[in-house]
Amino acid sequence: MGNTKFNFSGQVAIITGASVGIGKGLSEAFAEAGAHSYLLDIDDEKGGEAAEAIRAKGGRADYIHCDITSSPSVKEAFDRILAEDGRIDVLVNNAGGFSMQLATVDTPEDEWDQVITRNLKGVYLCSKAAIPTFKSQKSGRIINFGSVAGLATQVPSSPPYAAAKAGVHAMTRVLSFELARDGITVNAIAPGTTATERVVKLRSPEQMKKIGENSPVGRIGEVEDMIGCTLFLASDEASYLTGQTVSINGGRLAV
Ligand SMILES: NC(=O)c1ccc[n+]([C@@H]2O[C@H](COP(=O)([O-])OP(=O)(O)OC[C@H]3O[C@@H](n4cnc5c(N)ncnc54)[C@H](OP(=O)(O)O)[C@@H]3O)[C@@H](O)[C@H]2O)c1
Repeated sequence: MGNTKFNFSGQVAIITGASVGIGKGLSEAFAEAGAHSYLLDIDDEKGGEAAEAIRAKGGRADYIHCDITSSPSVKEAFDRILAEDGRIDVLVNNAGGFSMQLATVDTPEDEWDQVITRNLKGVYLCSKAAIPTFKSQKSGRIINFGSVAGLATQVPSSPPYAAAKAGVHAMTRVLSFELARDGITVNAIAPGTTATERVVKLRSPEQMKKIGENSPVGRIGEVEDMIGCTLFLASDEASYLTGQTVSINGGRLAV
């Protein structure tokens, strides 16, 4: 982390898809800034290890198994958090992704349904679970992870992924409109290619190098690049900023 200090002491931050990658980095950063981070994911082993690593450094963190595509699983996780802490301050809808990149004509129907559900329905279910608490507190922050793929098409992408992420950006606007008078802000981050473990495994070193070189800033995004903006959007200072998508892409969309 840089030198800017955010203070989330006494606050509760829920991060979905937090066992690895961007979500793991965000969980560490919120805990480092004083929040109680709840790491929600389906990868219990890595999630448990990530929460343990935060606690080992003196932070507050707990891992909870939560499948964001299942309403009973989401309900169980949010009920537990409310029973333990009695409040929620920040919800980062980060879980998402895709595993097949096929043309629309070749995309199997079950892949379409699965990717749309993971990337879009999960945002709906987790937001729905947090909103009553945010409304009763008259405060709350929702930060949705969309993607450059949901904003522009410059390289081949997974059709259901791009469609779902465009939906995440639309949901961000709709939710911000619905919740603005309740002291709740809703914003989105649209990362460009970011060197998480999954992406590094998926792409060859040559592809990674080329993606970096093609970016105006000359390098690929890192998890660290996503953190400062997310913390800012979650902070008190961002109370007049809502319904926006910030694309963190090294200038790629400005080309
Ligand atoms: N990295 C990039 O280049 C990039 C670019 C643009 C946008 N994004 C977006 O940024 C977010 C984070 O990306 P990332 O690369 O850090 O992701 P990641 O490394 O793939 O991690 C996502 C985590 O979410 C978990 N997950 C998957 N389905 C879930 C479900 N139904 N319920 C709960 N957890 C679930 C995954 O578990 P399993 O591994 O077991 O599936 C994994 O632990 C995603 O929304 C992604 O679409 C990433």
